[in-house]
Amino acid sequence: MKLVISTKAILVVAFFNLSFLSLNAAAAPPDAAAGKVKAQSCFACHGENGIGISPEIPNLAAQPPLSITYQLIQFRGQQRNGGAMAALAAGLSDQDMRDIAAYYASLPAPPAKSGNADQITKGQQISSTQYCNSCHGPQFQGQKHIARLAGQSKEYLVTQLKNIRSGARIDMDGTMGSAARGLSDDDIDALAAYAASLK
Ligand code: HEC
Ligand code: HEC
Repeated sequence: MKLVISTKAILVVAFFNLSFLSLNAAAAPPDAAAGKVKAQSCFACHGENGIGISPEIPNLAAQPPLSITYQLIQFRGQQRNGGAMAALAAGLSDQDMRDIAAYYASLPAPPAKSGNADQITKGQQISSTQYCNSCHGPQFQGQKHIARLAGQSKEYLVTQLKNIRSGARIDMDGTMGSAARGLSDDDIDALAAYAASLK
């Protein structure tokens, strides 16, 4: 079981890595300083420090740059429905997205959040039986195109897991959809509390 999921994870990571490399072959390298200038319109919600100003707005600080870029592409293409995000992403070029991603990725990670200790322990257990770490990293720090979950807003994580479980949020290759499908509401609360408690 474990082996099957991790092999799948590695294949997925390798696939997206390659497809992004070929897409970006002719592009200028990402420029975090230029990204900070381009991200001015994002600060009102995601903060200059990459910390969302309210619980439904995700932290972007220390997210893997490829994860930020890929989500922006999905908003722009309207594959992911995120309220204001589609209109905001519509005006961004691929290079803008890479520069903005480099800026937010370079910022210090969000602080760990305190929470109910039993829920956090339960979340950690579910995470290990469901192999969430095989994709999101040992400390949920994210990697490649896979989001950082550590220190993320608990409310945001709950919403996203429910949307992915129901299919309201499409995921790029179905692997996250199958990971979320078997989770109960209680499991989701516990996983979100655990992720938020990590730094
Ligand atoms: C009006 C508030 C607002 C502004 C301004 C805004 N965002 Fe967002 N952003 C949100 C909300 C709300 C979500 C969560 C959407 C959802 O529920 O799926 C989000 C989600 C995201 C995500 C997905 C994060 C993840 O972990 O999947 C990225 C990336 C992002 N925004 C980048 C940006 C960038 C870059 C800008 C500036 C060009 C920007 N946002 C401007 C409100 C905003
Ligand atoms: C096979 C790899 C894989 C596994 C296993 C996996 N994930 Fe994911 N996860 C992803 C990918 C890829 C995405 C991005 C999906 C997309 O937007 O297309 C994602 C997205 C997410 C998001 C949305 C993050 C954001 O910032 O919007 C959450 C929350 C999440 N996963 C939690 C979990 C939890 C909890 C588990 C274990 C039950 C888990 N994942 C297992 C690959 C995985």
